[in-house]
Amino acid sequence: MQEQADPEYCYGLLARDAAQQVEKHVPLKGATVVDIGGGSGHFTEEFRRRGAQSFLFEPDPGELYGHGRKPEGAVVADGYLLPLADGTADVTFSSNVLEHVSDPQTFLSEMVRVTRPGGLIYVSFTNWYSPWGGHETAPWHYLGAERARARYERRTGRAAKHTLGENLFAVHVGPTLRHVRSRDDVRIVSARSRYWPFLAGAITRVPGLREFATWNLLLILRRCPS
Ligand SMILES: C[S@@+](CC[C@H](N)C(=O)[O-])C[C@H]1O[C@@H](n2cnc3c(N)ncnc32)[C@H](O)[C@@H]1O
Repeated sequence: MQEQADPEYCYGLLARDAAQQVEKHVPLKGATVVDIGGGSGHFTEEFRRRGAQSFLFEPDPGELYGHGRKPEGAVVADGYLLPLADGTADVTFSSNVLEHVSDPQTFLSEMVRVTRPGGLIYVSFTNWYSPWGGHETAPWHYLGAERARARYERRTGRAAKHTLGENLFAVHVGPTLRHVRSRDDVRIVSARSRYWPFLAGAITRVPGLREFATWNLLLILRRCPS
């Protein structure tokens, strides 16, 4: 709720939470982490604080400077085509990027490619039917994306940052889980709601309900040995 008023606090909290979630499965100290679509670098900074070598790849220079400073050593690059060799990373990480790419499956494949066999893949995204699915236009996206965008513009006097089909895409929990389960190069370690403190795993197992109640799906995957 404080994202707009106090982004440093909000993203610092999220970054610590995400790092703890990763560290339940792999120590960050000494790990090579690839942060894809890392924006202004809060996650990469937290991973580095915990002893990881974290590399940030972000296609939009405007996002890199989002909080007034460019994260050290960030690379302007697209998550579909990372300038990395196969199996480079112990951990590949993408927080809230999947719903911003038009082809999530290809984006996931590139994450898998750069992860070493046995390495960890952390993917989270806000699903479309989440109360926050419409991002700044939420929850009015339930009445249609166009209507929600028009309302936002009327109310704030400025255009919404996201347009459905351009830089925001309707990604759903069920189809994403089915896709990941069908892959033979990863296995699911955990599929849970990222932010819920309780019933986080149970929610994602209930078809229908999960599309609304998951809020933000967190998938932790392990790359299978090739
Ligand atoms: C909502 S922001 C998330 C930023 C940060 N990861 C976080 O969780 O705060 C979405 C990010 O995805 C990035 N993005 C969009 N398309 C991308 C792509 N094809 N490859 C990598 N990143 C992409 C955007 O530039 C933006 O920085």
